[in-house]
Amino acid sequence: MLVATRPETMKITKIKEHIGAIVTGIDLREPVAAETRQRLYDAAVDNVVLIIRGQNFTPAQYQAAAELFGELMEDQNRRYLVDGFPLISVLSNRHKDSQGNPAKIGTNSTWHTDHTNQECPPKFTMLYAVEVPDKGGATRVCNSRAAYEALPEDLKQRITPMKTANTLISSARFKIANPDILNDQLESKTPPMIHPLLRTHPERGTKAVWFHKSKTEMILGMTPEDTQEFLQDLTDRITQPEFCYAHEYQKGDMLIIDDRSSLHKAGFDYDHSQHRLLYRILVRGDRPF
Ligand code: SIN
Repeated sequence: MLVATRPETMKITKIKEHIGAIVTGIDLREPVAAETRQRLYDAAVDNVVLIIRGQNFTPAQYQAAAELFGELMEDQNRRYLVDGFPLISVLSNRHKDSQGNPAKIGTNSTWHTDHTNQECPPKFTMLYAVEVPDKGGATRVCNSRAAYEALPEDLKQRITPMKTANTLISSARFKIANPDILNDQLESKTPPMIHPLLRTHPERGTKAVWFHKSKTEMILGMTPEDTQEFLQDLTDRITQPEFCYAHEYQKGDMLIIDDRSSLHKAGFDYDHSQHRLLYRILVRGDRPF
């Protein structure tokens, strides 16, 4: 049963007008009252990214905290998981590929939302900071709902009917892909997953630009080359500083990103002799519409 534990100490502070809020004064290892859970959930949806500071989780405690926000789903990359925890994936700059070489930087280094090649991509991406570099290595998040609302009317109308065809990795990225992921794509028999470029939030009814450029084989009716150019131009328009927040981690931060209203990307601007180690959990979402 859920019981209240000192909910009065919890404080949620907005970071910027369009994006981000920081939560202090809560230890998610302790039971959380239903009302507190709802405040956290709403703060994640309304602010697009929520940072819960000062956690000190074991993997089991992290997983239990993540479950407060919905049903968890498996990461499609099964290569790097926390031992004994198939729902927690490990993001680390020390991974090796199957040949024993340092794993190439993945598609998370460009603006994206997760798992767009799946029918029901995650609603939340959660990142828990286990080891962090002294400086840099921020996760950047863009509020693509507010950014959409600020687009010129003619562009809004142009993108409204657009649909994307999503694969594990688009052919435009084959040359620079991690060889293991490329192999998965070449062996895949799964047809591209078609999604809208402009997504409606199932809980709020708001619209947001929503895509993963490196997984978009094409916008229907466009060539793959024109698609990449169009998406780059759209990315440049929506990732204006007022819509974005760069989170430089402290150990023990838990980030919750509402994937239905945002794009995000990993920063690689840090001293790579230091370990950047995040545990990622995905919360199951709906089919985009
Ligand atoms: C992600 O793309 O899910 C991870 C982002 C990061 O490593 O900062």
